Amino acid sequence: MPAQLIAANWKMNMLPQGAAALAEAVLHGARAAAGVDVALCPPAPLLGLVGGILSTGPVALGGQDCHAEASGAHTGDTSAELLAALGCRYVITGHSERRADHGEDDGTVRAKTAQALAQGLTPILCIGETLEQRDSGDAEAVVAAQLQGSLPEGATAAQLVVAYEPVWAIGTGRTASEEDIAAMHAAIRRTAAALMPDAAALRILYGGSVKPGNAAAILGLADVGGALVGGASLKAEDFLAIIGAARAG
Ligand code: PGA
Repeated sequence: MPAQLIAANWKMNMLPQGAAALAEAVLHGARAAAGVDVALCPPAPLLGLVGGILSTGPVALGGQDCHAEASGAHTGDTSAELLAALGCRYVITGHSERRADHGEDDGTVRAKTAQALAQGLTPILCIGETLEQRDSGDAEAVVAAQLQGSLPEGATAAQLVVAYEPVWAIGTGRTASEEDIAAMHAAIRRTAAALMPDAAALRILYGGSVKPGNAAAILGLADVGGALVGGASLKAEDFLAIIGAARAG
């Protein structure tokens, strides 16, 4: 089984001083957790600073978003090529906050994910249902449709990571039950099997209020390939505890 990936999504948090301290603390702590894949995804303006700190160690750098086009007149956006040039290995695509705040639909997410792949980045492609969709019994169908719509043609499990993030569990302190996570990850893998030849090897992360207290149970599930961590990634102690609960390769 491949190592689990624990990725920090700092979202629109941290200023330079705190970011440097947090990156240094994670780097220091993660050296002890050899064999687990760890990534930090800071806000774009902090990529250079955080990347400089991480450059000597095992913790990877990631972006939170990239533009669908290679370059050009897109004020305020960041290209996948620039992310790669700044040392990023990963980029989050299709996060539910971008889908909600910026109107990104599956087609946009697919184009961004394709652009990330073209630049040699590993996309962390996010999918997940709203509470309304879960309550109406549509969660698996919604998530399957998102994966089908957001996955670039020809993409393989070796090239990307999928993150299942139920929207109602993000930043709310609510997590999906272990049964729900296991069932959804199995459903995602079934959908992926029709879309990619190596779906058995696809790393499927769980995201949504992962914290030290629930990390071991979630990361202990057979089909969970890691975690995408928001709030708890902003405190080194909490994030390192989650890394400590992950499976090494
Ligand atoms: P959370 O965020 O851990 O704060 O719920 C996860 C995410 O949105 O990636």
